[in-house]
Amino acid sequence: MKKHVILLSVVFVIAFSTAFVNKHKPDEKIYIERSEQRTGDSLKGYQYLTTGDFLKSGIPYTFFIMKNGKDTDNLLNRTGKNATVSPGYNVITTADSVDIVIPTCMQCHAQVFDRKLVIGLGNTFLDFSETRQVSPASLAMMQRMAPKQYSAGKILFRTYKTVFPQLAAEVRGVNVADRLASLLAAHLNPKTLVWSDTPLLNIPEQVVPTDVPPWWLLKKKNAMFYNGFGRGDFAKFLMASNLLTISDSSEATETDSHFGDVLAYIKTLQPPKYPYPIDEKEAAKGKNIFVDNCSECHGTYGSDGNYPNLLIAASVIGTDSLLYKANQQDKQFVDWFNNSWFSQGTRPARLEPFDGYIAPPLDGIWITAPYFHNGSVPTLEAVLDSRKRPAYWSRNFDNPEYDYKNIGWKYEIHDKPNGKKVYNTTLPGYGNYGHYFGDALSDMERKEVIEYLKTL
Ligand code: HEC
Ligand code: HEC
Repeated sequence: MKKHVILLSVVFVIAFSTAFVNKHKPDEKIYIERSEQRTGDSLKGYQYLTTGDFLKSGIPYTFFIMKNGKDTDNLLNRTGKNATVSPGYNVITTADSVDIVIPTCMQCHAQVFDRKLVIGLGNTFLDFSETRQVSPASLAMMQRMAPKQYSAGKILFRTYKTVFPQLAAEVRGVNVADRLASLLAAHLNPKTLVWSDTPLLNIPEQVVPTDVPPWWLLKKKNAMFYNGFGRGDFAKFLMASNLLTISDSSEATETDSHFGDVLAYIKTLQPPKYPYPIDEKEAAKGKNIFVDNCSECHGTYGSDGNYPNLLIAASVIGTDSLLYKANQQDKQFVDWFNNSWFSQGTRPARLEPFDGYIAPPLDGIWITAPYFHNGSVPTLEAVLDSRKRPAYWSRNFDNPEYDYKNIGWKYEIHDKPNGKKVYNTTLPGYGNYGHYFGDALSDMERKEVIEYLKTL
């Protein structure tokens, strides 16, 4: 009798759970609804990006030049003092008439490629593996010898001192902007954006590494970021870099008023064209294979192209889970944002985490190596053939060379981890698994798909 009951309940549980799973099977591909965006003047946006004062505190110009020397390339063709600093900085004058150097978006969102500056290309040559600090001794000296300069930099120095020790990535070449954002949020009152020396949130210790998506994709996307959790007013997210030196919400409102223009500028950017001849016949075959195997997620291209704007569930994509899990589990940051100045007013923004990633548009994919949200795969060839993905690999940061055959950075394979210079895909967050959609194709078919991808 007892046995019977157990058996019955087992049957019952199985029946119940399959019914439950079927009914609640998580959607594997979710369409992201469009949200209303601001319009603006792209030329003004460009000027603001390259000369504007979206940060109000920075390194005094005289000290900056003393340490770094004057930049002579002037890649942005700027005038005045801006012409003497590299593209990742603007020189602005404070209300106290002190010239200061502020770090800009171009630190992470521009990169020199084949000796040309490509604005909007994610900079994968940054090294966040060491926590940089302005030494206390030089700060003390500055405070003594140049009090006005010191006070123009005070807020930035405070931020550096507070958050930089908690920013370090495991290897060079990955970006830690997501962590920077949550550490800053932890020190800011969500509504007033006023700084608190003691953290108000308890941010987990793990540093989640990411790559940097290229800016020219944004015009197609209905959600921002790899996790697709940036919803509502995009300009609000663009101006979030301002948190680095923010004083209060009224400063945020002033800065924010320029970001419709910045968004308009970002929307004008086009992907750079592949610079070498493309085999048209092979690319045409590759296009058919792409349409059959890839378009349902990545869309179609050309004048009648269509980008489907889909989130792909973790169970389907299978790439490293740390980023989406961090967004899901670190509710504190999401709650902070969704109850902050950013989520108020007539143009609110909000974060909607999801268990999975956006299937990105592939425009200009030939130039954006390394691949996946964490930059774990060095070439397109290895994206399409998972057997070719190296576990430990390094690329040359001093004289980077591009591989135009397999499409990506030339790299060296290692048989074991070796500090920050070798990408280590066995670390949490740095995994190179998942996205096996190219594995079933033949070598020839993969070659044809790559030929087609060069045309995008
Ligand atoms: C410290 C590096 C860094 C700086 C500085 C920075 N960003 Fe980013 N940005 C990133 C990273 C990393 C991501 C991707 C994060 C993610 O998706 O999880 C990103 C994402 C974006 C995206 C989303 C793109 C997409 O397709 O989803 C836009 C747009 C953007 N940043 C604009 C800006 C602007 C404008 C500024 C300056 C006001 C700026 N960023 C400053 C690192 C940076
Ligand atoms: C079921 C949906 C889906 C299919 C089918 C699919 N992809 Fe993807 N693809 C994604 C998602 C999602 C990502 C982002 C994964 C990540 O970064 O973790 C991605 C990433 C990529 C990337 C890297 C993008 C970057 O900027 O790093 C490339 C290249 C790519 N896919 C090409 C292809 C090709 C070629 C095919 C067909 C053989 C294909 N994909 C099939 C969903 C898909």
